[in-house]
Amino acid sequence: MGPEEALRTLNEELTRGHRLIAAAVTLEALDEAETAVLGRRAPFSSVQRGLGGLDEEARRRVGRRTNEVREALRAAVSDRRRALEGERDARALEGDRIDVTLPGRRLRPGSLHPLTVTMHRIVDIFTRMGYRVVEGPEIETEWYNFDALNIPPDHPARSEKDTIYLDVPGRTDLLLRTETSAMQIRTMERVAPPVFVISPGRVFRQETADPSHSPVFHQVEALAVDEGLTFADLKGTLEAFARAMYGPEVRVRFHPDFFPFVEPGAQLGISCFVCGGRGCRTCKGEGWIELLGCGMVHPNVLKNVGYDPERYTGFAFGMGIERVAMPLYGVPDLRLFYEGDIRFLRQFQGLG
Ligand code: DAH
Repeated sequence: MGPEEALRTLNEELTRGHRLIAAAVTLEALDEAETAVLGRRAPFSSVQRGLGGLDEEARRRVGRRTNEVREALRAAVSDRRRALEGERDARALEGDRIDVTLPGRRLRPGSLHPLTVTMHRIVDIFTRMGYRVVEGPEIETEWYNFDALNIPPDHPARSEKDTIYLDVPGRTDLLLRTETSAMQIRTMERVAPPVFVISPGRVFRQETADPSHSPVFHQVEALAVDEGLTFADLKGTLEAFARAMYGPEVRVRFHPDFFPFVEPGAQLGISCFVCGGRGCRTCKGEGWIELLGCGMVHPNVLKNVGYDPERYTGFAFGMGIERVAMPLYGVPDLRLFYEGDIRFLRQFQGLG
């Protein structure tokens, strides 16, 4: 083979090689193409083998071209191999694909119970006024729940008709607390005045559940004792509370009431925050909503904890959290709070 024929063959083989390599669509086909253009029996190889028979000048010329064509074809083969391997790997990944795009089970975010939200709001209002939160036991003694609070032994609230007593061998004075007022005593026993505390918690009564009664409900008790506290302080405090809770237009009224642990005792009413006092469903046409019991701490209560009633005076009030929450959220039946019905509870999502 003369040098000119050798160079032509090299050019043809370069063109043919590129075509064969590009046409290979599998790695096996690529191996075959590689053998066909660079293998021992390929025209390229006979040119290479024939180099020795050429004169020196022609050998250099054809030799250089041989190298160029070999490099170009090898590069084309390895490019094509990389591309085919990439396709093979992608196919394998595609085959192993797990479809995670199916709709999952959506987790609904939880939210606080409306009574918890209400309790937090009440506690917030008083802690901002400087009150401290104290909590006490749900199992109480007759002393803390009744005697120390100046509730006489024959008071009807103490009967088994109203109070749940515990059947504990050797003890006859244990009961489920009927009011958070017991925390007044436990607090004053421990600290000297000034005292400004609130105590939220669960209370229990011998009661059949109906729209406005429940054997278990919640209260927040408040107690303030210091030198020089008067009924005006009580009124101001409760007015500030009512406005913070129900809105700045709310008016308050007090009328006399009796609780053994206060003297004088009163009932706080607020003007209906729904109708402004004209009468509506929320206030049952009254224009007013009775909210809580309050009064000036009875001297006997102060004496029971060793406070000097000549030097200290105080006020106390106790409110049912359900009673505060029901008009606030328009809940017509107390029992809804305890049934755990998700359709009811969902309405309060995002409140707290
Ligand atoms: N303990 C009372 C109740 O359960 C509420 C109450 C009334 C608390 C007057 C007080 C108060 O501190 O002064 O109905």
